[in-house]
Amino acid sequence: MKDLTPKPSELDAIEIASIDEIRSLQLVRLKWSLRHAYENVPMYRQRFDEKGVHPDDLQDLSDLSKFPFTVKTDLRDNYPFGLFAVPRDRILRVHASSGTTGKPTVVGYTRADLDNWADLVARSMRASGTRPGDIVHVAYGYGLFTGGLGAHYGAERLGCTVVPISGGMTPRQVTLIEDFKPSTIMVTPSYMLNILEEYHKRGLDPRESSLEVGIFGAEPWTNAMRQEVEQAFDMHAVDIYGLSEIMGPGVANECVETKDGLHIWEDHFFPEVIDPETGENLPDGEIGELVFTTLTKEGLPMIRYRTRDLTRLLPGTARSMRRMEKITGRSDDMIILRGVNVFPTQIEELLLSTDGLAPYFQIELHKKGRMDAMRVMVEALPAQADEAAKERAMRVLAKKIKDTAGISVEVAVGAPATVPRSQGKAVRVIDNRSEG
Ligand code: DLL
Repeated sequence: MKDLTPKPSELDAIEIASIDEIRSLQLVRLKWSLRHAYENVPMYRQRFDEKGVHPDDLQDLSDLSKFPFTVKTDLRDNYPFGLFAVPRDRILRVHASSGTTGKPTVVGYTRADLDNWADLVARSMRASGTRPGDIVHVAYGYGLFTGGLGAHYGAERLGCTVVPISGGMTPRQVTLIEDFKPSTIMVTPSYMLNILEEYHKRGLDPRESSLEVGIFGAEPWTNAMRQEVEQAFDMHAVDIYGLSEIMGPGVANECVETKDGLHIWEDHFFPEVIDPETGENLPDGEIGELVFTTLTKEGLPMIRYRTRDLTRLLPGTARSMRRMEKITGRSDDMIILRGVNVFPTQIEELLLSTDGLAPYFQIELHKKGRMDAMRVMVEALPAQADEAAKERAMRVLAKKIKDTAGISVEVAVGAPATVPRSQGKAVRVIDNRSEG
């Protein structure tokens, strides 16, 4: 793989500024953001007043812990535009969550917000190893989801040629990669596996493709998956994180030269990690729920937004700003089986280290008598799909899960192409427990 480390002269000065400089910029911006929220959003004014805190009470960054949290239902309760802090006609774009259940959550951006977003995605792409002049294949979905358009404007901002293909139509994805020869692909890691499968179907060697960098995010994925994709395509696989409520993609990104967790772009977002049960702040290095406060957002300032994503904060390495460890999962995705906690990422890691199995999986939860039970649905690699090989892989994976997670699960090894393929964000867990 090529060395794609950016030169220090290519970086934004703040990326390699001193910690003191970063903290003092954050303090100025945090004071502004709290005041902006308090003065322009009735919900924040009411919440701060109820808690007896005022923006003037923030003298130091640590004072932020006195302020109330914001949660996803606050956006639903103020649907659609109730949390906007500027008149509606200053909002140039909205995005929304898919909202499969209940009302979607709507987010809005002013011109300055869109500008900062494009800058931060451009910064993220540069950290990933993409250069001005590169061709960028954007296979995140376009539309209300922030992935496609967020990536798109960042790539343009960096000075790249963008191929706005969006998600789906996998054969065409491969055709355009082969014909246009992008250096970079931006897509969910689970959908990247479909693209890989299509390469194999066509008898093409993915290692011969033009791809040098994949910027993967929007769902949890493991270092084992990184290795799988890096080897398959002979390319760098780099993690990008973000969420609509805070901005979209580009809140944090890994650096291609270290791949050791994601640098949070702390000049725009102030991170905290809390104990999800008590809401108390945890020191850097301890795992808990990630919380963000926006520092520059005009349209939709977010104060102490609880992401439900689990990770820990680590000191900067390739950049001065702090890193977040690759996300283990969301607290909502945590499976509690007979008192033991399991995340789909743990299963992914074990599956990828098991011979004879393809990298696709889905977890099904059901009732077995009065007990909860878990079935891990995987599939055999085409070359190892005979009954004896399937049986062997089944036993090996079940044992690994038993040994590391401490639970007995059923592993069902299907024929090749039997696990449903991801079309964007993978659906990892199907919960049939209420169906008796
Ligand atoms: O998924 C934004 C995005 C688009 C990020 C493209 C990266 C690339 P939402 O649809 O609002 O926004 O979903 C946000 O997705 O709270 C995490 O649970 C999860 N997520 C996003 N990036 C990562 C990642 C976009 N790199 C939710 N690793 C977040 C793990 C991620 N989980």
